[in-house]
Amino acid sequence: MNYPVSDMAENLIGSEIIKLGGEINRMIAEGAKVHNMTIGDFDPEIFPIPQELTNEIVSAYRSHKTNYPPADGIRELRQAVSDFLWKRGNLAYPADNILIAGGARPIIYSIYQTLVDPGEKVIFPVPSWNNNHYCHLTRAQQILIEAKPENNFMPIREDIEPYIGEAVMVAVCSPLNPTGTVFSRKQLEDICDLILEENARRGPDKKPVYLMYDQIYWMLTFGNVEHFDPVSLRPAMKDYTVYVDGISKSLAATGVRVGWAFGPTKIMAKMRAILGHIGAWAPKAEQVATAHYLNNENAVDGFIEDIKQKVSGRLFALHQGISQMNRDGLPVMSIQPEGAIYLSVKFNLLGKKTPDGETIQTTTDIFSYLLENAGFAAVPFTAFGNSPGTEWFRVSVGTCRQEDIPGLLENMRAALSRIY
Ligand SMILES: Cc1ncc(COP(=O)(O)O)c(C=O)c1O
Repeated sequence: MNYPVSDMAENLIGSEIIKLGGEINRMIAEGAKVHNMTIGDFDPEIFPIPQELTNEIVSAYRSHKTNYPPADGIRELRQAVSDFLWKRGNLAYPADNILIAGGARPIIYSIYQTLVDPGEKVIFPVPSWNNNHYCHLTRAQQILIEAKPENNFMPIREDIEPYIGEAVMVAVCSPLNPTGTVFSRKQLEDICDLILEENARRGPDKKPVYLMYDQIYWMLTFGNVEHFDPVSLRPAMKDYTVYVDGISKSLAATGVRVGWAFGPTKIMAKMRAILGHIGAWAPKAEQVATAHYLNNENAVDGFIEDIKQKVSGRLFALHQGISQMNRDGLPVMSIQPEGAIYLSVKFNLLGKKTPDGETIQTTTDIFSYLLENAGFAAVPFTAFGNSPGTEWFRVSVGTCRQEDIPGLLENMRAALSRIY
């Protein structure tokens, strides 16, 4: 029997990225070597979590830290996060304004549930990660802003301004998945000013427009690139901003499942209540271990330095190789990496012909041509909300070995050289 379920569940869209995996796996099963750069995760053989964190987790289980944690997270971890934010981000949030969960996803879900009623409007840029799905889960109306490559794929005030009067939340992220770019100071300041002006206009009796600020990749910025955040730039944003953060990316710990939010007291209390009912807590032993690890400043410094160097080394090698192809007249370009584990690459292939004389007509055609002819797979921005027909792709280096890059670039160059 296949009885109907809720409209929400019937119409839930599965992960676009997982769908691409089918074609890739078929090629691998046929014995092809594929550089699979679609995965927004770390290969733990290449990017293991910090050894000290592993030791702390094992030790926490040995000490039987296995009962329910408090709904907002253990005090020790909330204090460790508070200290961490102060020391490394200059953000003053006491432990009581910090909420721990099983990674950033339940945090994002509970932010949507806390701030947005069904039918209300949420503004977010595309490309971005999963806001469309969170809107669907909340039955919110989405207002998509198509961010432009010339703005580093970040939304700017002018993009948002026409819709701000209707919205209850703006959801942004920096460094951004999928583009590997960050907000400039001015871009973020302008958006904060717009939100402050709008809230002043609404006055104290109306629901304000909130800002969800996802900074899960903030420890991974490269070179002189600075991470900016709304409350540091505009302290008045404190009443309206909820941050999304955690260890999944900076500690390569996607499977450890420790994330946190910080923001206004009332919002944190409501989110805690929602998370309590879902039970989407971080496991207690992982909480104890993460608290000890974050307090070990030398270990954290060493790990972050190392992972940044490894991730940026790969991203810059790819960017340089692709830029060289561009200078050589091949139809490809990339945007200089600034943060996260991603590179934005544009394959200018629509309307061009393959060696077999077939015209490349769609984004999926580009994906398939590169997969079959270069053994290279990346995720088209359509998976992040862009309209069909985009030539932009996300290249993730989380499962990439540095020594594989020259071969990968060679294959890409050969495949692109045959296009006419
Ligand atoms: C921008 C962004 N936010 C949040 C998450 C979710 O993080 P977590 O694995 O901690 O749930 C991801 C994961 O890919 C992400 O890219």
